[in-house]
Amino acid sequence: MNIRLFLLVLLTSLAALGGCEADRMSEKGFSLPPGDAMRGREAFLYMHCYECHSIDGESFPKVPGAEPPFVELGGKVSSVKTYGELVTAIINPSHKLAEGYPVDTVSNDGTSRMPVYNGYMTVQELIDIVMFLQPHYEVYVPPYDYRIYP
Ligand code: HEC
Repeated sequence: MNIRLFLLVLLTSLAALGGCEADRMSEKGFSLPPGDAMRGREAFLYMHCYECHSIDGESFPKVPGAEPPFVELGGKVSSVKTYGELVTAIINPSHKLAEGYPVDTVSNDGTSRMPVYNGYMTVQELIDIVMFLQPHYEVYVPPYDYRIYP
């Protein structure tokens, strides 16, 4: 085998290996069973999510001394909040910070101010909370004025 061929074979195998590595970390095939929205609302209450979140169309107990930021969940959004995005927002809050807030209010140097619940939130609670939250999002298409140019 000449050296060029050898290098070519080596590089293609490395590229293929790299591809496999990326595939292994892919979210492809990820699917959770349906949850129970009523139980999700209860979990939202007993896990005190409402200390930092308001939800369009829901009222929660007032929290004495609670300090904003109140990050609104639900309401009008410009694109569908997918199931995956909501699950990620809860189990990996710093992955992508909520839009529409000054970075300093919702994070410390890019790390979300939201606590990480992964150590004690059960998978069932996660599924139920997401089931509860999702219908509160309403996709809003901004009005678009057509202007016909002659
Ligand atoms: C101490 C305050 C605090 C508590 C308690 C809290 N969060 Fe948050 N949450 C935040 C902040 C700040 C953000 C915005 C930064 C970010 O996207 O992580 C956020 C973002 C989110 C988002 C993404 C919103 C968006 O528009 O992208 C979801 C969903 C969410 N929280 C769900 C929950 C749930 C469910 C609970 C309870 C289990 C909870 N949070 C408890 C502070 C909190």
